[in-house]
Amino acid sequence: MAKQEDVFKKVVSHAKEYGFIFPSSEIYDGLSAIYDYGQNGAELKNNIKQYWWKAMVQLNENIVGIDSAIFMHPTIWKASGHVDAFNDPLIDNKDSKKRFRADVLVEDYCLKIEDKENKEIEKAAKRFGDAFDKAEFVATNPRVLEYRAKREAILSRLAKSLEKEDLADVKALIEELEIADPDTGSKNWTEVRQFNLMFGTKLGASADSATDLYLRPETAQGIFVNYLNVQKTSRHKLPFGIAQIGKAFRNEIVARQFIFRMREFEQMEMQYFVPPGTELEFYENWKKTRLNWHLALGLGEDNYRFHDHEKLAHYANAAADIEFNFPFGFKELEGIHSRTDFDLSAHEKHSGRKIQYFDPERNENYVPYVVETSVGLDRLFLAIFSTCLKDEVLEDGSERTVLSLPPALAPVKAAILPLVKKDGLPEFADKIFNDLKFDFNVIFEEKDSIGKRYRRQDAIGTPFCITVDHDSLNDNTVTLRYRDTMEQERVPVSELRRIIDEKVNFRTLLSKI
Ligand code: GAP
Repeated sequence: MAKQEDVFKKVVSHAKEYGFIFPSSEIYDGLSAIYDYGQNGAELKNNIKQYWWKAMVQLNENIVGIDSAIFMHPTIWKASGHVDAFNDPLIDNKDSKKRFRADVLVEDYCLKIEDKENKEIEKAAKRFGDAFDKAEFVATNPRVLEYRAKREAILSRLAKSLEKEDLADVKALIEELEIADPDTGSKNWTEVRQFNLMFGTKLGASADSATDLYLRPETAQGIFVNYLNVQKTSRHKLPFGIAQIGKAFRNEIVARQFIFRMREFEQMEMQYFVPPGTELEFYENWKKTRLNWHLALGLGEDNYRFHDHEKLAHYANAAADIEFNFPFGFKELEGIHSRTDFDLSAHEKHSGRKIQYFDPERNENYVPYVVETSVGLDRLFLAIFSTCLKDEVLEDGSERTVLSLPPALAPVKAAILPLVKKDGLPEFADKIFNDLKFDFNVIFEEKDSIGKRYRRQDAIGTPFCITVDHDSLNDNTVTLRYRDTMEQERVPVSELRRIIDEKVNFRTLLSKI
């Protein structure tokens, strides 16, 4: 089995075993691509949200946050283009009766070519050792160049065919590349068809009077339709932004890869309203700002890359993804889109209301242009969780699993552990718990040996363990153990709040952006 698959399996099983993520409705055998967040997952997710909200809303004087409803007027989705164009190209395998996204089949084929490319590079790096010049090798090695050219030609043809809605050519491409059903090996394919991803539902008491609605497939439209309300009540001048965190729903066909592609998920989106003609400058700025926000998490610069879109969505004049190196390779984590005035103009047309801004400097009215940043909360969770999950071999040869989360994001900030369940130690520890709980999410644990308790806290990413022993009763000190180094030091109880706060507070994380 490939190493990547092992890593991914470990991520999924660790997430379940330690209360981060459970398959939804599991006692009824689950629902595909729907997941529930457990006690530690909910904390981690809330902390990620806070990191985003504070960075976008709290730190930016000209960005405000809203929380719009999931149910929205159905015409919104006509105006936004989702009714007509929010489709995925589908293909069925006639033998296995399984359904696939045609573009994903081709992209997966290209990923395999990329794997071969990477293997060539790894082999050469081993062969040449310290003398290896990666940039030079990649630019000159005939095999690598051949793989790269092949991949680029395939992806470019796919992008063009999708752009032109030439689905027959997408099928032709699949046949020419001899792509088979990954599970059965069959190459017996149907034609490629478009499939709308929105979930329908109904609003109303009786069947005849009910209105057809959609569950929102993105949170962005809730921002667009509130643009006038927010601009008037906040009295912000352009440029200004509206941010939102909320659920979105998509009837995804390829729902694999755990929480990477879900049918119910959360987005953290921000629409930045700017004067026409300035959007591309703001777009470039937001690309940089958002990458820096990710980098501050400390997951490693090499794990990120930009991917500029060849095929632009129906609303964009420029678009890029920030891709992350997930356990199954580089994939989209966040989208940054220059959405022009498409959405606001479309809502003007469909609603009959004027959605304009009077620019006192230009002395004119216009529909603002929009630069959007949109990151999937669950994808970000997966990026952080999978990168921080590590198996370590310790000096004494024993092993531990540690989740080295950025401390501000850790579900539990400190565990308070009486060494034994007697002699007044639990009562002493309880006092510390009752003091720290007002500032941090802390837990009290007295079951099992201290070593086992340390390991359990390492596995959920708790940055500090506080051990209360018999000396504590006499000198009011405790042993503070650091998750990452496993170093231990004796500190006065009165110092605990300061030491923990310095490490886990959001200021420490936010000031790295
Ligand atoms: N408003 C723009 C928009 O929705 P998108 O690229 O379709 O753009 C933005 O989605 C982000 O939402 C993606 O970069 C991804 O992180 C996340 N996302 C999209 N579909 C998802 C799914 N099915 N499951 C989890 N996250 C998803």
